[in-house]
Amino acid sequence: MIQYADIIVDLQAGDTGKGKVAHSLLKRKKQYTHVVRYNGGGNAGHTIYHKNKKVVTHFIPCGVLYGLKSIIGPGCVVNPKKLFNEIEELEKLGIKVRKNLLIDKRVHIITDKHLEEDGNETKIGTTKQGIGPVYRDKYDRNGLRAENEPLLSEFLFDIYSLHIDGTNKILFEGAQGFELDIDWGDYPYVTSSHCTAGSAILNGIPPQKIRKTYGVAKVYRTYVGAKEFETPSIVFDEIRELGKEYGATTGRKRQINWLDIDMLIQSININGVTDLIFNKLDILEDVDEYKFFLKGMLYSFDRSKDFQNKIEDLIWDNCESIVNIKFSRTPYEI
Ligand code: IMP
Ligand code: MG
Repeated sequence: MIQYADIIVDLQAGDTGKGKVAHSLLKRKKQYTHVVRYNGGGNAGHTIYHKNKKVVTHFIPCGVLYGLKSIIGPGCVVNPKKLFNEIEELEKLGIKVRKNLLIDKRVHIITDKHLEEDGNETKIGTTKQGIGPVYRDKYDRNGLRAENEPLLSEFLFDIYSLHIDGTNKILFEGAQGFELDIDWGDYPYVTSSHCTAGSAILNGIPPQKIRKTYGVAKVYRTYVGAKEFETPSIVFDEIRELGKEYGATTGRKRQINWLDIDMLIQSININGVTDLIFNKLDILEDVDEYKFFLKGMLYSFDRSKDFQNKIEDLIWDNCESIVNIKFSRTPYEI
């Protein structure tokens, strides 16, 4: 039986600090029995600091750090070789991955051919992890699923069993974000999976079981990829350095821009966000510049508090699902 499910969803173009939110929720013991990753594959990059060591994970849900059963859900794609490397890195740090990792049998396999094909991609600037080709083959009904990949047999799982055994409380962990969603993002500068809260439900959980939806944003925007997103300026260079805005998967510079309130409101409404978290407020405070776009106009504030208050007012006025709004500063480390 499923008691409830909460969702963490990224309201921008990824890299908003979803992991940080997941960690703070998982620290409260017994709130969840399972963590489910609901979309994407090795394109995601999640930086973890554990025992003073930095590790970047791509496939493995962060629940393993807390000894929780952690499921790669049917909306995801996996490359077995890369997954095994990641398992090894985490096990070296003393994190018990093999004991807790489960992979739904419907997960699609990223093959060497997919990686090779994506490796030559230049049009939109992908992460070269085979994402476009693997989802193409899935929808073309030509894909290979985990249930037919002997390398993954030890992890094989059917997510439907969560409806049958025990009293399950699930935390859904999304990858990428609203602005990269295959339907809602700036097509074709998008990824090939669904990155909204609806995507969590596609992993086999009925809508009425959703309790809270945590929407995560930064107080400025970043984007990695081929389109022109940033208007070069010194303050964006400063934000990039202070905020360590370099891709966790590819090391590429993240392009920076000011918060777009209209985009954010749309994202909150479509995802049905109840709890809104803004990360990295400290970075704007360090550069001491507070700006956002609203209906195409750039607004500027002298003080952090005025900036926060104005954003809060706009969100309360335009987003009926919202219950809580929180502005958060670093540290990012757990
Ligand atoms: P793909 O998902 O590798 O096909 O890349 C498509 C677009 O999404 C590119 O612009 C990538 O840089 C971007 N992207 C994919 N995954 C992430 C992520 O986890 N964070 C930020 N950008 C991402
Ligand atoms: Mg990331």
